[in-house]
Amino acid sequence: MAKVQEINASTSRDRVEVRVRDLLDRMSLEEKIGQLNQVEASADNVLDLLGDDIRAGEVGSIINQVDRDTVLELQRLAREESRLGIPLLVGRDVIHGFKTVVPLPIGQAASWNPQLVEACARLASEEASTVGVNWTFAPMIDVCRDPRWGRIAECLGEDPVLTSVLGAAMVRGFQGASLDDPSSLAACAKHFAGYGASESGRDYNTTNLPENELRNVHLPPFRAAVEAGVASLMTSFSDIDGVPATANSFLLRDVLREEWRYDGLVVSDWDAIQQLCVHGLTETRDEAAYQAASAGVDMDMVAGAYLQHLAGLVASGRIGLETVDRMVANVLRLKFRLGLFDARPVLTDEPARMTSRSLAKEAALQSCVLLKNEGRALPLDPACLDHLAVIGPLANEPAEQLGTWVFDGDPQRSVTPLSAIESLAADAGMAVSHARAMPTTRSLDETAFADAEAVARKADVVVVFLGEEAILSGEAHCRADIDLPGAQVSLVKRLKAIGKPVIAVIQAGRPLTLTSVIDDLDAILFAWHPGSLGGAAIADLLFGRACPSGKLPVSFPKMVGQIPIYYGHKNTGRPPTPDSIVHIDDIASGAAQTSLGMTAFHLDAGYEPLFRFGFGLSYTEFAYSELSLSAVRITPSETLTIAVNVTNLGDVEGDEVVQLYLRDRFGSVTRPVRELKAFQRLTLAPGETREVRFSLTVEDLMFYKRDQTRGAEAGTFDVWIGGDSAADRKAEFTLTQDSPAMA
Ligand code: BGC
Repeated sequence: MAKVQEINASTSRDRVEVRVRDLLDRMSLEEKIGQLNQVEASADNVLDLLGDDIRAGEVGSIINQVDRDTVLELQRLAREESRLGIPLLVGRDVIHGFKTVVPLPIGQAASWNPQLVEACARLASEEASTVGVNWTFAPMIDVCRDPRWGRIAECLGEDPVLTSVLGAAMVRGFQGASLDDPSSLAACAKHFAGYGASESGRDYNTTNLPENELRNVHLPPFRAAVEAGVASLMTSFSDIDGVPATANSFLLRDVLREEWRYDGLVVSDWDAIQQLCVHGLTETRDEAAYQAASAGVDMDMVAGAYLQHLAGLVASGRIGLETVDRMVANVLRLKFRLGLFDARPVLTDEPARMTSRSLAKEAALQSCVLLKNEGRALPLDPACLDHLAVIGPLANEPAEQLGTWVFDGDPQRSVTPLSAIESLAADAGMAVSHARAMPTTRSLDETAFADAEAVARKADVVVVFLGEEAILSGEAHCRADIDLPGAQVSLVKRLKAIGKPVIAVIQAGRPLTLTSVIDDLDAILFAWHPGSLGGAAIADLLFGRACPSGKLPVSFPKMVGQIPIYYGHKNTGRPPTPDSIVHIDDIASGAAQTSLGMTAFHLDAGYEPLFRFGFGLSYTEFAYSELSLSAVRITPSETLTIAVNVTNLGDVEGDEVVQLYLRDRFGSVTRPVRELKAFQRLTLAPGETREVRFSLTVEDLMFYKRDQTRGAEAGTFDVWIGGDSAADRKAEFTLTQDSPAMA
């Protein structure tokens, strides 16, 4: 059966190649260059603006038009009124939902649930394809270890393996079983590569990434996306080792095409070809077009540089016709794969509203992370409460809870926390009073605090909705100070002083430094921007109708000066330990320089984050026991099975994310102190014990070595399994020989 499928796939690939070749043979140079040109199409009079260009074959793709009739008409012009009838790629940033919004990608990552993430991408593509969009610019799989960067909201966290698994799941979700299914979108893995390492977390900034770190940390998710069949890749705005990604032939040719054998489309980021001049790489736009085309960028997103300059570059012999043909073939191949030449219909019906709402709610439930729960402040028991205070600027904000990148999200579909709490409370006969306290999260105005205090005084428990509005994260929305903005810290202190339990629900697009409020709060539920059904999910979690199960996909620093702080760091020659560190307040007067521990820590912050990667509390507790390995010595061709028993010790059902970490003790390059290698989410009934098994092959032990080839090196590995990156069930095994080097 697998053989038959393989043969079918390869014959359909061959058929596509024949059609691409046939079309190329009939195209003029101008028509070819037109296919490499993506234009902005959002204007109301876009038909007047672009009609003639489309008829002339000068447009290969449009971006940002989502009016169904307009898209259909633009497609009709391309199909019926251009000489060769080549249809358009219709692109849109469908990042975390279309009309129905699911949690931010960083929130989805907190679910550690690839099936759920895949289903969310599928829903987004089913909704977006009904307006004629056939290409999304997602998933964003930049590994990011800097929460100042606004785009951390859009990524899948700090870890290469978690990002690889969830990014590939998104690709499968967007692209469906087949790209030519009318409800599938072509996915675009972005931003290739290194964008997440923008210096000081400032967007578009330069990066400093040695090749070994690039290969071991930042490139694996892209490789996983390529292996999952991603249809396109977008270049990064940033430069790397002095060469902007959009002109980087090492990335685009050597790695992507030669090492990984990628045959999809590469598109520049917005205007990035023209920006090669701004970077100071090229003096003129035609040189920018030359560098991008010769490095391997197939399509120019809105700069118009290919349209203007490629013909001249071909005429002068700087760009060969075979290069242009290769670029055009990558565009046409995608159009054939999408079925655009074969009258792919534009569906009219979105998925049933009930289905999309229940998926959006489930995703929000699984993405919320319970960070603190002192004295079991949560869940709230409505039977024991007469009056609940709901306070804060984000309790009832249908648009803000959707987060960044929601051009098409419909706030009318939102259920806010306040409305969901009110309806649960009404059923339970509990009173709810609401005070907004602040006009925005950034406001410094404390005049409404007195009203909030009055509301809090009347209540048994205070739930305060804090965080960041959507505008404070996302592209170009970076922050140098990532504390709760505005007067929120002061609000927390005032509420705490009243003496009632204070529970915070925080909605934000990034990890925040919560050091200044953590001791004032009895419980903290971190909800990211949870999307359309976020309020319903939050209310269910607060009242114990659902059990929190999200785990952090990124470390939360205590203070901004610790950044970058991530679990998979190197050991250094002087690793810190709890007894080697000294706090600034404890330095004896006149202490000698060498009395301060001499290890890698900060005098004012130690070396641990506030909340570590993989961490998240539940309303129950899980115990790990009987860690066992199928062997303690393996050869490169053997599979190692690692098993552990997980028990739900509590009296409620709960989900646990079982995480497996490895350490390769010695390597030809220094290796991280821990690396996530595998994980499984499972649901356990109260008292239930289940055995969880993981299989590791030599692939899981490979890394890019000192000579930048990939392989596993013989030696001893530590393995830990548990519920977060500090898992302490430990075993070890030995790989007896080096593996052969792999591509
Ligand atoms: C962003 C991309 C996005 C593109 C198109 C750029 O500014 O960096 O991620 O896909 O715009 O909207």
